[in-house]
Amino acid sequence: MPQRKPSHPSPAAALSVAEKASLTSGAGDFVTQESAAAAAPAVMLSDGPHGLRLPKESGDGGQLDLHSAAPATCFPPAVALGSSWNPELAEQVAGAIAAEAAAYGVGVVLGPGINIKRSPLCGRNFEYFSEDPLVSSELGGAMVRGLQDAGVGAALKHYAANNQETDRMRVSADVDERPLREIYLRAFERVVRRDRPWSVMASYNGVNGVPVSENARLLTAVLRGEWGFDGIVMSDWGAVRDRVAALRAGLDLQMPGTGGRTDLEVAAAVESGALDEAVLDLAVERLVRFARRATNPVHSPGAIDVAGHHGLAGRAADQCVVLLKNESALLPLDPSGGSVAVIGELARTPRFQGAGSSQVTPTRLDVPLDSLRELATGADVRFAAGYALPGAEAESTDADTQLFNEAVRLAADSETVVLFLGLPAQDESEGFDRDHIDLPAVQTELLGRVLAVNPRVVVVLSNGGVVRTAPWQGRVPALVEGWLLGQAGGGALARVLFGAVNPSGKLAETVPLRLEDSPSHPSFPGEEGRSRYGEGIFVGYRGYDARRCEVAFPFGHGLSYTTFGYDGLHVEEADGVFRVGLTVTNTGSRGGREIVQIYSGGPTDSRVLRPVRELRGFISLFLELGESRDVVVEVARHDLAYFSEREDGWKVEGGRYRIEAGASSRDIRAAVEVAVEGDPSKIRLTGRNTLAEWLEHPVGGPLLSEWFAKARAEAPQEGQGALADPVMRRFLAGVPLDVICEFPQSPVPPASLGALADAVEARMAEDRERRS
Ligand code: BGC
Repeated sequence: MPQRKPSHPSPAAALSVAEKASLTSGAGDFVTQESAAAAAPAVMLSDGPHGLRLPKESGDGGQLDLHSAAPATCFPPAVALGSSWNPELAEQVAGAIAAEAAAYGVGVVLGPGINIKRSPLCGRNFEYFSEDPLVSSELGGAMVRGLQDAGVGAALKHYAANNQETDRMRVSADVDERPLREIYLRAFERVVRRDRPWSVMASYNGVNGVPVSENARLLTAVLRGEWGFDGIVMSDWGAVRDRVAALRAGLDLQMPGTGGRTDLEVAAAVESGALDEAVLDLAVERLVRFARRATNPVHSPGAIDVAGHHGLAGRAADQCVVLLKNESALLPLDPSGGSVAVIGELARTPRFQGAGSSQVTPTRLDVPLDSLRELATGADVRFAAGYALPGAEAESTDADTQLFNEAVRLAADSETVVLFLGLPAQDESEGFDRDHIDLPAVQTELLGRVLAVNPRVVVVLSNGGVVRTAPWQGRVPALVEGWLLGQAGGGALARVLFGAVNPSGKLAETVPLRLEDSPSHPSFPGEEGRSRYGEGIFVGYRGYDARRCEVAFPFGHGLSYTTFGYDGLHVEEADGVFRVGLTVTNTGSRGGREIVQIYSGGPTDSRVLRPVRELRGFISLFLELGESRDVVVEVARHDLAYFSEREDGWKVEGGRYRIEAGASSRDIRAAVEVAVEGDPSKIRLTGRNTLAEWLEHPVGGPLLSEWFAKARAEAPQEGQGALADPVMRRFLAGVPLDVICEFPQSPVPPASLGALADAVEARMAEDRERRS
C-alpha cells in the first residue's frame, strides 16, 4: 500500500499511466527515463564506488564490458579506505569522484557499498569497508556526504544482507531479526538517517525467503517508515523478477531498462486494478524529485583533474597501508644506502583493484618497483620476478624454476628483501566467492626459499580479501598489508617502505589463523538456495572474541614507526551522550597518526548474549613527536542498545558497562565502568512470563512480592518451603507464572492472574503519568 497520498500537485498528474510506468525503469543500461511533461531530466548513472566506471558508448559489451570504461581516477577501493579509519579522507576522495562525475555529466555514482564482511571468502570483500557496522557507516557515510555535498548523488548499496557472491541472484539470507538489525542493517540505518543518500540500491538476494526487490518490510516499513528515507530505491542490475510486486513493495526504479517490456506490465496492472495507481504515482513523485536533484547545475562538463586526483589517490593510499609486523624495526628501509632485492611479479605488475562492476580504467598507474627506484637516493634496488602471475606466459615448471633461482640468488646477494606476494586477479571478483584464503602455493614456496638464504625479509601483500598469514608469519620479521590500493598505491607502498610516510592504517577486519575459525564458516555460503546466518550477532571480532579464538592479527590492529601512550581515560554523561575522554601522546621517535578505538562491553548482568566488546567510536589524529592531545569520542547512550526481538525494538539494558580505549580490539590500553540506566520494559506481563521475569520487572516484581507476602500472612502454613529453598527458588525462576499458579500451594490462584497483570499495567500507567 502507498504510504501517503501526495499533498501537493503531483508531477504524476501531468502524465498518462504509460508515461508514468516508463519513468519507473531505466532508459538504458545506465540512464534513467526523462519526461519533459514532468520536468524530469534523464539522470546518468555510473559505477562506483572507488572511481567512475563509465562504459564508453562504443563499448560493444555494454554493461558486461568491463574494459571499455572512460579513464577515471582509481582511488583506493573500500577494503583499503576502510583501513584508513579516516572519514575525512573518505569524504575528500568522494568529493574528487564527484568532480569527475560532474565532468562526465554523471548525476549519481553507484556506491558506496557498505555490506558487512561476514566471511573472508566473499568475492566482493574488496568493495566493502569492514566486518563492523560502525566502521562501515562512518566511512560509507563520509562518502555519501562527499558526493552529495558536491551535487552528485550516492546510491547506497547493496541493501540488504548481500554478504556473498555465491548464488547472489537467488540466495535467501536467512538471518534472525537481532543480527539483521545490529549487524547487517545497522550501517544502512546510520547512513540513511544521518547522511540522507539520494538513492539506495536493492540487492539481488532475498532476506528470509523474500527477494529484497519485493520486500515491502525492508524497502518501505524499515527504510522509509522507520528511518525516514526520502530518496528512491533502485534495483541492482537485473534484480527485479516481478516488476509489479517490486513497485508495490517500494522499489521505484528497475535497472537496467527493459526496452519498455516491463513498463507494459505495470501499465496493465494499473488498468486491471491489480496495482493501485497511487503506488505508481508515489514512485513517480520520488523519481521526479530524484531526477531534479541529480541534474544539479553545479555539474560542469570538462576535463578531469588527472594530476591533482592522482596525488589525492596517493595521499589516501598512504593512510590505507597497514603495518602488521615489524620486528627489530626492520622497517623503514634506508633509501640512501644498502642493497634491496625487490622480488615478486606483483611489484612490477601491481594489482590495485578488484574485478567486476567497480573496475575503473585508471588515468595513470604507479608501479611499486618504479616508485621504490625513484625514492632510493643511494640504495641499490634490484628486481627479480620470482613467480609468474597466472595467465602470463611463463607457467612451465622449467620457467618457474628459473624464476625461483634468479630470485633466490638475488635475495642471497642483497642485504634486505622486499617480497611482494598476493592474490592473482582471477581469485577474487564480483560474481563468485573464494573457496580458500591461502596465497598461491608457488608464492609461499618462494618465500621459504628466500628466507633460507636471507632472513631479512619484508613481505608486502596485495589482496582484496584477507589471506592466511599464519603458516609463515612467524618466520618473517616484517609484514605490510598493502590491500588493493588504487592507481597510486605503488607510490604509497614505496613511501612506507622507505619511511617517507609513517604507516597508520589499521585492520577493519580480522585476519584469522585458519579459515575454519571464521565465525560464519560452518554456514557459509549455505546450501540449496539458503544461507543461514547461524553465527547470529557474532560476526568478525565479535565471534572470535566470544570463542576466545586466537587470531593472526586482530580487528583494529596496525603498527606505526612511532608509539603512542594512552592516559587518563574518563567518561562523562550528559543528555544521553557519553563523552569518553583521554590523552594520547606520541611517545616514539617521529610524527605519526594514531587511530584510537573506543569499545563497550557489558552490561555485567545482561539478559541476552552480548559480544565481549563492540566498537562504539574512534578517532584518527596526527601527533608530532612528543605531542600530547586530549581527545573526546562521543558515544550515544542508545548505541549501547541491543535489538530486542521480544519487544520488537532497540533496548538499552540498565547496568554497569565497560568503556575501553584500545589501539586494537586486542590491545586495550585503559577501561572504566559506567552505570547506565535502562529503558523501561515494554513487555506487558502475563501468566506466560516466568517467575524470574515477574520478579525482575520494576513494577511486577514488587507487586508480586506484595501478593506473596499477603498470601503468606493469610495462610502461613501454605507453600512456605518452596521459595525459602535456594534450589527450588532457582528451579521455579524459569517456570511461567501461570504454571506456578496451578500448583495447589500457589499463593496466587489462577483466577487472580488477570487481576494481577492489570494491576501492573495500572501502576505503570500511573508512573508514566507522574513522569510526564
Ligand atoms: C552490481 C552493482 C553495480 C551494477 C551496475 C551489479 O551487478 O552488483 O554493484 O552497481 O551491477 O553495474
